[in-house]
This record gives sequence, C-alpha cells and structure tokens, in this order.
Amino acid sequence: MELNQIQSYVNSNKERFLNELLDLLKIPSISAKPEHKPDMFTTAEAVKQRLIEAGADKVEICQTKGYPVVYGEKIIDSSKPTVVVYGHYDVQPADPLDLWDSPPFEPVIKKTDIHPEGAIFARGACDDKGQMYMHVKAFETMMKTNTLPCNVKFMIEGEEEVGSSNLGPWIIKNKEKLKGDIILISDTSIIANDIPSIDSGLRGLAYMEVEVVGPNRDLHSGVYGGAVANPINILCKLIASCHDENNHITVPGFYDKVQELSDAERAEMAKAPFDLNDFRKDLNIDEERGEKGYSTNERTGIRPTLDVNGIWGGYTGDGAKTVLPSKAFAKISMRLVPNQSSKEISDLFIKHFESIVPKSVKVKVTAHHGGEPVVVPTDSKGFLAASKAMQETYGKKPVPTRSGGSIPIVALFKKELGMDSILFGFGLDSDGLHSPNEHYGLFNYYRGIETIPLFYKYFTA
Ligand code: BES
Ligand code: MN
Ligand code: MN
Repeated sequence: MELNQIQSYVNSNKERFLNELLDLLKIPSISAKPEHKPDMFTTAEAVKQRLIEAGADKVEICQTKGYPVVYGEKIIDSSKPTVVVYGHYDVQPADPLDLWDSPPFEPVIKKTDIHPEGAIFARGACDDKGQMYMHVKAFETMMKTNTLPCNVKFMIEGEEEVGSSNLGPWIIKNKEKLKGDIILISDTSIIANDIPSIDSGLRGLAYMEVEVVGPNRDLHSGVYGGAVANPINILCKLIASCHDENNHITVPGFYDKVQELSDAERAEMAKAPFDLNDFRKDLNIDEERGEKGYSTNERTGIRPTLDVNGIWGGYTGDGAKTVLPSKAFAKISMRLVPNQSSKEISDLFIKHFESIVPKSVKVKVTAHHGGEPVVVPTDSKGFLAASKAMQETYGKKPVPTRSGGSIPIVALFKKELGMDSILFGFGLDSDGLHSPNEHYGLFNYYRGIETIPLFYKYFTA
C-alpha cells in the first residue's frame, strides 16, 4: 500500500465522502433525549447501510438493553491481525440552541481562522460522527484499492454520550465475535493541524447528583428568611468546601490512589507544545486556574478534578420572586486518573457529603454512570503503528499526550477483551465538542481518511 494510491482514491471521491457525512449529521441522534429514540434507530440503520456499501460482511444491528450497536466485519485471512474499530453514532444534546449560528442538524461548511479550508458545522461533526465515518471511508478506500492488509471489525455504539452502560454487558456476551488484536478509536483530539499528537491516556469519570432539602415547602423569604436554612445557600457552601485554597480537592481519601508521575515523566510531558497565551485567547480568559503545583497540561491530563456541571433550585424566571426554596440540586462530576476507581471515588464523595451536611437540611446523593481511567503504552506495536502513520501524512512525528476527556468503555476493552486501544483522534479541542457551533475541519476529515489505512499497513507489517 502506498500513500499516493490512497490519496488518489480519496481525491476522486472527495465530494461523495463529504455528502455522505452531511447526510448522517442531519439525523439528530441525541441519546440523552427519549424523544429522539426513532432518530437513534434511523442512524444505526444508516451506519449499517454505509458499512455494507463500503464492503463489510455480516453487518448487523445488535440490540442491547439500550440503543443498538452496529457491527460489521471483513475477514480476509484468519492468520492475519484483526483491527477492531470503535466509534459512536450518538451525539450530545444541542442546547442551548440560540447560541448556534446555524441549526445544529443542518450542516453547513464555513471557513474559520483555524480551518481556512472550511469546516462542517453540526452537532456530532467532530464528536463522533465525522471521526467515526472516517473509518468507514478509509475502509472503503482500502477495499476499492485492494490494499486492506488485515481483518477488520466495526463496533459502532449509540450510548457513549450517556455512559455506555449497556455496551459492557454486550461486549461480555460477544467476546468471541469481537476477538482481535487492537482497538482503534478516533474520538479524541490532536494538538493542532500542524502538530499531530496521539493520546496515551484518558481520564475516568464519577458523576453525582446531589439534592439538598430544607423546609417542607417554599417559604416567604421575608417571613422565614434568616431563621430557616436555605438549601441553595447550604449547597453552595458545601460545594465551595470541596476545594481548598490551593485548589486541592478536600474529599478525604480522594488522592490516596492517584498515580503520581516521576519528574522524568513530567519533564517528558512538558515537551508537548503548548502556548498559554493561545489557550487564554481562545477561551477569552485573563488567567487560567487549577491545582497548585501543576501545569495546565498536567491539570487536564494527569490530575483528577471535581466540577459542578449544573446547579438549580428556587426562582429563576423573569423579574424577582422573594422565595426561600425548599430544595436545591447540583450535578457534580469528578474526572479520575490512574489508579482511581469510579466506584470508590463515588463512595468517598457520598460519605463526605453526608458527613459535612448541617442538621438544618437533609441531603441525598446518588451516583450516575461512570468510567475508569485508561493509559495506553506508548511503546506498543499499535502506538508505534499509529505514530508512523501520522508521521507519513503530517511529515512530523506525533507528540504523545494525555487527554482530559473520557471514553467510558475503553477500560473495559482491556479488562474484558484484553486489547489496548489506540486513541487515533484527528479533531481539535477548539472544535466545540458538546458546545454550540461544533465543527470538524475538512482538512481533518480527509487527513484522517488518508492516515487510517497507513495504521493498518504498519500494524500488519
Ligand atoms: N469524544 C469524547 C471524549 C473526548 C473528547 C476525549 C475530546 C478526548 C478529547 C466523548 O464523546 C465524550 O464526550 N465523553 C464523555 C463521557 C461521558 C459522557 C460519560 C466525557 O468525556 O464527558
Ligand atoms: Mn466522542
Ligand atoms: Mn462526547
């Protein structure tokens, strides 16, 4: 397989590759919203059709307790290695809709400073339909140019954005079907379009919901205010107490198992190009903030966090209503690093919150979905194949990085299937994943399609 052979096929099919992705992006496959259930099945069916057209065999929609997994394979020779591609066809909710410059499910191409060749604006453009579909088109390209060097299996799920809780049991039931040598995933980012990188880790996640209950009903804040605990005031205090003045997390035991990096490892990490001024400029902030003693890259890559994702209660409508609310709520997530466990951290958090709550209110803490942290060995065959592939298309050796995000199922791939995952992402952190105006660069889309076949080549060699 030669790169120019791949490039010439991609070039002569560019427009179709793009239009097919645009069609996929038009279906609002929001896994978190029950009203989009029909769209989820429509998207799964569309992915199935595309895999069939690209040349996959045994393509099927596999039911789970939640949304289905689309499976397909091409087995050319059982003595050859097998690459298992994972991706997700579900997307995050598009809200707040009024912050989008164009409707989230009517994709448009627009140029930006970072994407002078143009970028596709739509929910899911980068996370993960655009990146997942690169694999389908890379596979088509290898099929049509007769260059597929090994076996391939596709596992495209519909519940990543809601924690993948039904995928685990499906994987455990289908271990034989999923047998392979490496998992290949494009659902992460590179540093910049001229600075390729490959993630060697993902953070885990523990996600909690807290309910603080004060008096048995909403009260007049004049008649009762000052004498009865206000659950919102209390909740804010409790949350604020979760960090100390150095921004360390105060939940007892929280750091006990955190894997500390050696000075040498930290020095290696610090080599990754990073410009604090660009970071500030992109986010329009005057100063970053985080745990004392760690750099910005370390704060997102190797350190755990605790963040409020949402907080509500009381009166939030127009004008003023003088009310002392009965209840207050918050959603709080913690990003985890190796060797923290999602279950252990959830338990520590619950215990801590229950212990600090004053007698004047009651608190109920429940745990939502979670996920375990992951590290990928950078000296493995898969990582080196990915590195070589990117070096060839970008003309530069990719930098190993640690991602701050989570893909909850990845730890399970290792535990249940014994396979490492290669985090072969091509998006940019600035592409607005989960935000309004999410987009994916055309450069990134085509570059990914051209680079993926080279991974197969070097992994098989
Ligand atoms: N693709 C992202 C994760 C990601 C994004 C990793 C950018 C690295 C760089 C994934 O779809 C995602 O959003 N995961 C969730 C997991 C959660 C919903 C269980 C996350 O990280 O919040
Ligand atoms: Mn994703
Ligand atoms: Mn996501």
